[in-house]
Amino acid sequence: MQLGTDTLAFVYLISGALFILGLNRLSHPSTARRGNLFAMTGMVIAIVATLLNPAVKSYTFIWPAMIIGGVIGTVIALRIQMAAMPQLVALLHSFVGLAAVLVAVGTYLDHRQQGLLSTVFMVEVFIGIFIGAITFTGSLIAFGKLQGLVTAAPVAYMGQHWLNLLLGLVMIGLGVDFAINDHFASLMLMTAIALLLGILLIIPIGGADMPVIISMLNSYSGWAAAATGFTLQNKLLIITGALVGFCGAILSYIMCRAMNRSFISVILGGFGTGDVADASGVAAATQKGVKSSSVEDAAFLLENASKVIVVPGYGMAVAQAQHALKELFELLEAKGVEVKFAIHPVAGRMPGHMNVLLAEADIPYDRAFEMEVINPEFATADVALVVGANDVTNPAAKKDPSSPIYGMPILDVDRAHHVFFIKRSMRPGYAGIDNLLFYQDNCSLLFGDAKDVCEKTVAALKAA
Ligand code: TAP
Repeated sequence: MQLGTDTLAFVYLISGALFILGLNRLSHPSTARRGNLFAMTGMVIAIVATLLNPAVKSYTFIWPAMIIGGVIGTVIALRIQMAAMPQLVALLHSFVGLAAVLVAVGTYLDHRQQGLLSTVFMVEVFIGIFIGAITFTGSLIAFGKLQGLVTAAPVAYMGQHWLNLLLGLVMIGLGVDFAINDHFASLMLMTAIALLLGILLIIPIGGADMPVIISMLNSYSGWAAAATGFTLQNKLLIITGALVGFCGAILSYIMCRAMNRSFISVILGGFGTGDVADASGVAAATQKGVKSSSVEDAAFLLENASKVIVVPGYGMAVAQAQHALKELFELLEAKGVEVKFAIHPVAGRMPGHMNVLLAEADIPYDRAFEMEVINPEFATADVALVVGANDVTNPAAKKDPSSPIYGMPILDVDRAHHVFFIKRSMRPGYAGIDNLLFYQDNCSLLFGDAKDVCEKTVAALKAA
């Protein structure tokens, strides 16, 4: 069976609509599963329709490729750890980039053989290849950094940005030569430069800035797919590519805004180079005039509170404390305490990081509140329990114009009657700066690993 052009266009339209519905549902944790179902259905329809496209002359290579790819994808999806998700996403983006390059070169050679070359087509090929090649190597470097295969620290050298600019200009010059004169050698050289640029653009970026870069590469991979759509005259690829391209760009913008950083400063690199060493533990805290507390004190105030707001952050993810936190949540609820979770848009190291972990521990979605909604409630909370979050609670963002995070929207934890702050030491968070909250009268630190402290608090509550 083969589909006619009109039927194919109609089926692709249905797929495109399902992708848009899927994206819409992904905007809230409670509807995200349904969103994934919509998107998966759209993809199955798109694949079946493409297989029935009269342009497909043989299935000899298609079936084995689908079976092998399907098996690899299933195994990876079953085995992947939540914390390794960003590097998996980076690796998958690299495949999109590589596919865009291969499809563009293959289609060009095919058109050349058939004498179907036109300037517009050549420009499409050039754009598809350069975005695809940058996405390919850039995503591989991002994967290497997150996986610890390549140094996570920014690699900087003199004249770095000028070199990138020069290479970019040479690449465009070669692309113009290819489009006008059909020089295959220019195309190959241009591809090599684009591959090199992908590496050079990503190596100066600090490991901690990687989430923004991954979302930017996500956007690139969308544009690479859209360019492939133009080359192949495939409307669904154009729609899907544009959706991914815009989503990635919007997400990068939202992340930068929530971190109070400009996108340019992120891609120029050199920030968030890792943990800044500082004196650790109770001794350092006392020296700095910071109060530390015991889990027994915390348990006492928690169980006598009427409202507790929990603020999870990167440390909760590192310690995998979400399950212990769930137990704490259930115990407090059983004692009649109202417990809410406050989610800052950039808490953790990737978008939705905290929502995913809380969902993994079966903490009800309706107990997690976004910053704008929960902020007015801190003033009426008896206890704010900060679990491995730091920058997203730092009042310096509101009070200290000289602070690098000044202007970043934060959770108003400082307004709660009492704050318990779980962390292991006096080391700062991602932004590398001291937290003014530690010095407030209403704040006490609970030193220790987040999972360990939550478990001990649970034990203290049970013993009470
Ligand atoms: P951070 O400010 O990075 O603070 C994390 C805190 O967790 C640190 O103070 C650390 O202190 C503590 N910690 C680490 N391991 C721990 C453990 N095992 N047990 C207990 N505590 C532990 O985290 P945040 O408040 O979630 O803020 C996120 C930061 O990342 C923001 O600056 C944001 O701009 C940045 N960022 C976010 C994203 C996205 S999209 N979420 C992307 C890029 C950058 P100790 O070492 O003393 O324990």
